[in-house]
Amino acid sequence: MKIWHPFTQEKTASLPVKIVKGKGAYLFDSNEKKYIDMVSSWWVNILGHSNKEIAEAIYKQAKTLEHVMFAGFSHEPGERLCQKLYEYLPSSLEYFFFSDDGSTAVEVALKMAYQYFKNLGKNDRNMYINLEGGYHGDTMGAMGAAGNNSKYHSIFAEFFFKTFSIDFPNSEKDEIVSLEKLKKFLKNFGENVCAIIVEPLVQGAAGMRTYRSEFLDLITKEVRKYGILVIFDEVMTGFYRTGSMFAVDKCVEKPDIICLSKGITGGFLPIALTITTEKIYESFLSNSWEKSFKHGHSYTANPIGCAAACKAIEILERRKTQQNIKEICDSHNEFLKRLSNVSNKRSLGTIVAFDVETSQIAEKIKVSMFKKGIIIRPIGASVYLIPPYCISKTDLEYVYQEMVLH
Ligand SMILES: Cc1ncc(COP(=O)(O)O)c(C=O)c1O
Repeated sequence: MKIWHPFTQEKTASLPVKIVKGKGAYLFDSNEKKYIDMVSSWWVNILGHSNKEIAEAIYKQAKTLEHVMFAGFSHEPGERLCQKLYEYLPSSLEYFFFSDDGSTAVEVALKMAYQYFKNLGKNDRNMYINLEGGYHGDTMGAMGAAGNNSKYHSIFAEFFFKTFSIDFPNSEKDEIVSLEKLKKFLKNFGENVCAIIVEPLVQGAAGMRTYRSEFLDLITKEVRKYGILVIFDEVMTGFYRTGSMFAVDKCVEKPDIICLSKGITGGFLPIALTITTEKIYESFLSNSWEKSFKHGHSYTANPIGCAAACKAIEILERRKTQQNIKEICDSHNEFLKRLSNVSNKRSLGTIVAFDVETSQIAEKIKVSMFKKGIIIRPIGASVYLIPPYCISKTDLEYVYQEMVLH
């Protein structure tokens, strides 16, 4: 028997570290060595590990109702969660569709946008637009919508959708060029596109690449001229990663569809939501089954996951958590000033990143940090920190110091 791990070259990778316990910002291995989880375990454990209150909410829900199929049935934790999220989202986003993880939240969004036009009898819209370098998950549709230039998925390219990639702007000058290219494409093919999908303000898996909200507003406005739907993939950016509840809070133009997952349950259970507008929802209403949305997963809106998410949001709302988030944002900025011999220093909310010369150097930093009890996971030559919001000032300072010494 052998366990096959994700995104791992099994031939050359060292043995996986066996983790036996988590507590707050820490993980403990089978030798009782303690690590600070500076990537919030693939960005999901925003409140740290083994939070007692979330664990208790899960236990309580599990004793009451562990699961019920969501077609034809509903339940209190699911309804409570949507009601809560509705308070934070742009008011136009009011129709909530559950799924299981980030990739499926994206699949739902892509299918929703496509079927929306089909339902309206518009059959020519079979293309998607993306922002070059974006990552939206590993399922066929999510990979396909991200386009052919993906550094993760190009091996599957023959299955991908027809897409147009907006050039990623590294400067305001770049923005003008990107926008002009987009306009040119739209003139020819705008009426053939059903949706644009972007990670708003920061592309996580591209190495925490940040871009300006003004640019996102401009492209949103431009594609809207052609009736194209706008999807914000907030799977990574949601729940205060960028400093505000959602990245969309920093944008003037609001999307037609938003995807949420990762931090939603504080890292306890995989659930996801795709949320949309009345205009889109209404196009699926009909006396015939044909127009209904053709999507659903066995574990859709799992009540235990929903109970965990409600509790996670309650904790996020507390003054203490909000204060911690603010302190992390502020101290990240101070940390960047202390760093030398690195390039492209950037921070957005609770995310901080910089580039080193090569991916080999980044890997060396990772190994050295690991020895010091700090878990990081650079992407290529980009080194980044995404701590859980419960991290102490002392631990954060320890991590910064070790980084600066490098
Ligand atoms: C922006 C974004 N969308 C979608 C996904 C896919 O989420 P999951 O890994 O939960 O399927 C990720 C994962 O990293 C992501 O960063």
